[in-house]
Amino acid sequence: MSAIGLGLDTTFDDTSVAILRGKREILANLTLSQYKDHEEFGGVVPERASRKHLEVIHHLIADALKEAQLDFSGIDYIAVSNHPGLLGSLLVGLTVAKSLAYTLQCPLIGVNHVESHPYANVLIHGEMQFPILHLVVAGGHTLLIKARDHFDYKIIGRSLDDAAGECVDKVAKMFGHPMPGGPVVDRAAQEFPGDAFDFPRPLMHKNEHNFSFSGLKTAMLRFREQNPDISSSSKNSSNPLLAEGPILSAFFQSVVDVLLHKTFKAAKFYGLNNISVSGGLAASRKLRSAFEEESARKGIQLFYPPPNLCTDNAAMVTCLAAHRFEAQQFDDLKLDAFPNLIC
Ligand code: KG4
Ligand code: ZN
Repeated sequence: MSAIGLGLDTTFDDTSVAILRGKREILANLTLSQYKDHEEFGGVVPERASRKHLEVIHHLIADALKEAQLDFSGIDYIAVSNHPGLLGSLLVGLTVAKSLAYTLQCPLIGVNHVESHPYANVLIHGEMQFPILHLVVAGGHTLLIKARDHFDYKIIGRSLDDAAGECVDKVAKMFGHPMPGGPVVDRAAQEFPGDAFDFPRPLMHKNEHNFSFSGLKTAMLRFREQNPDISSSSKNSSNPLLAEGPILSAFFQSVVDVLLHKTFKAAKFYGLNNISVSGGLAASRKLRSAFEEESARKGIQLFYPPPNLCTDNAAMVTCLAAHRFEAQQFDDLKLDAFPNLIC
C-alpha cells in the first residue's frame, strides 16, 4: 500500500494543505490566498500573514481530510515547508506539523519550499527525468538548478537582486494593478504582442548563469515617472489595459527573453536535454509558449505544471516529501524554521 502524506505550506501569504497517496496521487490540495488581506497595505505585512495562517490552517486540514475521505488515522507522515519564507508564517505551519506528527506518532519531514517547486511536474508528468535543469521562477526566487538525482542538485544561477516575480509584481503596481501582478502582465503580453518599446535585458550576455532584475525595475520606474498620465487614461477605458498594455507587454518580453536565454545557455553549457520550469511565473502563457518554441527548436524535453501547481501549493511540498519518505529521510521534533534558502 502506498504511504499517505499530509503536507502544509505556509511560507509566505498562501496557506495550503495537501494529502498525497504515494508520490503522485493528489487526494486533496487546498490553498487559501491572502492577497486581498494585504491589499490596503500595498504589500504583504508579515505579522498579518502569520495571523491569517493561524486563523485558517485547522479548517483547511479538516476540509482536506474530508475531501480525501480520510481521518488522521489514515495519515502515514507529515510534511511541512520549513524554509525559506517569512519566519512568522513558517512557524505556524511548522508548529502545526510538529503537533500532528507528535500526536499521530508518525514521521515528520521538513521540505525546502523552493526545492519543491519542480516537483509539481512529477505530479503531472511522472518521475523526474534526470539529469535535468530546473528554472524556478517564483515571487521570491529566480534560480537555475542542475539536478542529477533526487536530493542531489546544485544551484548554478540565481538572481543577484530582485526575483523575476518580484520585479513583475512591482512594475504592475507602478501602473496601478494590485498583487499578484503576473496575471495582468501576462494578459497584456497576449493582447498587445510586439516590441513597441525597447526595455533593458539585464545581464543577458554577462555573469554566466546569474540573473538581475532590479535594473529593469528601475528603468520601468523612470519610464513611469516620465509618463505619469498613462494609467489614468486607462481607467476611463472599457479595456483597463488599453493604455499601459503595450508597455507591460514589452516589459514582460524583456523578462521572458532573459529567462529564456539564460536557461537554454545553461542547458547547452552543461549538456542537459531536460528542462523544467516551475514557480508562479511558469503559469504565464507567454513564458510557456516562448519556452515551448525554443525547446522544439533545440530538441529539448520541456516540463511545466498546470497553472494551479505553478503557484504555491502544498501538493508539490508533499510530493518532494514522499520521495524523502521512501528514502526514509525523516526529521525529528527539533526541526526549525529558517527565512533563507540555504539553512
Ligand atoms: O510561486 P509563487 O506562487 O510564490 C512564491 O513562491 O514566491 O509565485 C508568485 C509569483 C508572483 O510574482 C505572481 O505575480 C506570479 O507568480 N504569477 C504569474 C501568474 N500567476 C502568478 N505570473 C505570470 N502569469 C501568471 N498567470
Ligand atoms: Zn513558491
